[in-house]
Amino acid sequence: MPVLCVNVDHVATLRQARMGIEPEPATAAYMAEMAGAVGIITHLREDRRHIQDRDVEMIRKTCNTRLHFEMAATAEMQGIALDIDPETVCLVPEKREELTTEGGLNCVGREAELKEFLAPLHAKGIRSSLFIDADPAQIEAANTIGAEFIEIHTGHYADAKEINERNVELSRILDGIRQARNLGLKVNLGHGLNYRNILAFKNVPGISEYSIGHSIMARAIYVGLDRAVRDMAEIIRTFVD
Ligand code: PXP
Repeated sequence: MPVLCVNVDHVATLRQARMGIEPEPATAAYMAEMAGAVGIITHLREDRRHIQDRDVEMIRKTCNTRLHFEMAATAEMQGIALDIDPETVCLVPEKREELTTEGGLNCVGREAELKEFLAPLHAKGIRSSLFIDADPAQIEAANTIGAEFIEIHTGHYADAKEINERNVELSRILDGIRQARNLGLKVNLGHGLNYRNILAFKNVPGISEYSIGHSIMARAIYVGLDRAVRDMAEIIRTFVD
């Protein structure tokens, strides 16, 4: 059965808006686990715009499920990941000026470099994922790199305004899932997924995890975090394997 992993970055976004002490991402992570999340995701960005180093440390200490650490492929982040020892890392691209992660990581032509980057993490037993677009060349490259998972970037699908554009993006993702599965890669999906657009994947086999943050935190403002996570977990529970 596919599962829900909850990204708590936006709890930190709210706190950092006042550079204060609340709300606390580690508490949100704990509540998300109680409501059905099977993993907690944080992205420690190079510019520390939301999650701070102490958040990752606290969540590492208090996480009862698994910690999925999103990171840029930099020496600094590699060192932090080796210290924190999350269950999984996901390599993501980072640009300082972007509002959020805008596209997938470019893996084509970087196969040897990224394989080498991941080697010390793999040696420590940390499993890896690559956040990529549903592009056949990127999926091939991810397979060469030897990550266990790919996370297909669903943002273009989620952001599409026109139905035709949305269908094209959805088909790309579905083709990508098939290609990755044929290569033996495990597939996660994430970015921009909400309580409605996720339903397109209900009958799609072969998805391991959904990585969701913004829509859950947005709903939590109205109904509370417990209910917002439960609502999403319940939807995913009806999905095929
Ligand atoms: N997956 C990755 C790699 C991301 O960078 C993000 C955003 O931080 C997400 C998933 C979650 O996206 P959203 O917050 O839109 O649900």
